[in-house]
Amino acid sequence: MTTTGKGPVGPEGGSTAPADEPVDGPTEASGGAAVATTTEAGPPPGEGPDGDTDVAAPVGPTVVDPVATARGPEERLGSGPVMLGTIKRRVTVSLDGREVRVPEGTTILGALHEEGTPEQADTPTLCWAPNMDPINACRVCVVEVEGSRTLVPSCARACEDGMQVRTDSDKVRHSRRMVLELLGSSVAMDRASADVQRWMDEYGVDTERYGPFAEPAAAGERDRRHAGHHHASDGATAATVAQPVKVDNDLYVRDYSRCIMCYKCVNACGSDAQFTFAIAAAGRGFDARIATEFDAPLPESACVYCGNCIGVCPTGALVSRREYELREAGDWHPEEETVTTTICSFCGVGCNLELHVQQNEIVNVTSPADHSVTHGHLCIKGRFGFQHVQNF
Ligand code: SF4
Ligand code: SF4
Ligand code: FES
Repeated sequence: MTTTGKGPVGPEGGSTAPADEPVDGPTEASGGAAVATTTEAGPPPGEGPDGDTDVAAPVGPTVVDPVATARGPEERLGSGPVMLGTIKRRVTVSLDGREVRVPEGTTILGALHEEGTPEQADTPTLCWAPNMDPINACRVCVVEVEGSRTLVPSCARACEDGMQVRTDSDKVRHSRRMVLELLGSSVAMDRASADVQRWMDEYGVDTERYGPFAEPAAAGERDRRHAGHHHASDGATAATVAQPVKVDNDLYVRDYSRCIMCYKCVNACGSDAQFTFAIAAAGRGFDARIATEFDAPLPESACVYCGNCIGVCPTGALVSRREYELREAGDWHPEEETVTTTICSFCGVGCNLELHVQQNEIVNVTSPADHSVTHGHLCIKGRFGFQHVQNF
């Protein structure tokens, strides 16, 4: 039996799997039967003829139609095996001298997460998220790739066969420290995640290296700046993005003193999740900032309050109004917080919700990034519509 055609059987009797994918299932000539009927002696899945267990294994299960063989050939054309995963070749990369094999298309960061040591898997990231396309903005995840003129962002660069990656060289550590130091010297990072705080410690970041912080901008001052009209710092103080918090609606606040311009909120609002495109980057250089169209207050903008921008913001620049109020009142207690997973009751989609509770009060709602329905993103009802629970 020729076992070269995995995937739905095409009209010409060949597999409809892409030509460049390795294939190993039955063909129409073999009766269109599902992979489960491929009983010919051979190596088990994931093992090559020579016992090489690194050979690419078919990814994902195959669903077999149990009555397919009882049907005529034409019916079988539409009822062959259904692939629930993508078949991928594997490439070999060296991570600090240790060779690993990963599916083609895996990013270097993905390889570090999946195959790296704990230290390699702990590569710092700011603009990357598991539920978003790589943004490639912050450059804190850089690694050295042999033959590459510059350091490369591991979150966005795909592994190539034979690639030699170094994750902990002086050059890498120096670059990561500079990125964190420049951000920390101009942006309030104290509400960034515990991981970010730890990385700042581990890389020896000195946020005051460029002098004392300059005075904060007045409300709206940074929003009015035009490209090409930036005034250089006086040299005695370090310019910052400090400015008053924008509180203009009941659901969430924008504290752009904490914004590192990672673009996650822009992409979550746009083509990564919400497709509302209510916010974008305005200005240039140090004056670049996230803004609504014409800097309109949120209630007058296109924002639909899904809160997906809040869900991805890595520094606490975007937080729910309730979190902001509790923090302002000195009543924010993350150490006491419990998280309960449930299903949203508003409609039948089945979104998982994580209810963050402090002192018997829901203070935030999120969704797991790996949930197949939400991929971490919610709508206004799931994100903010929990007050009725509190009323009981
Ligand atoms: S709440 Fe939703 S619609 Fe509004 S800016 Fe954030 S992501 Fe965009
Ligand atoms: S507001 Fe948050 S998510 Fe948006 S660019 Fe700034 S730091 Fe990134
Ligand atoms: S995490 Fe890779 S560039 Fe930001």
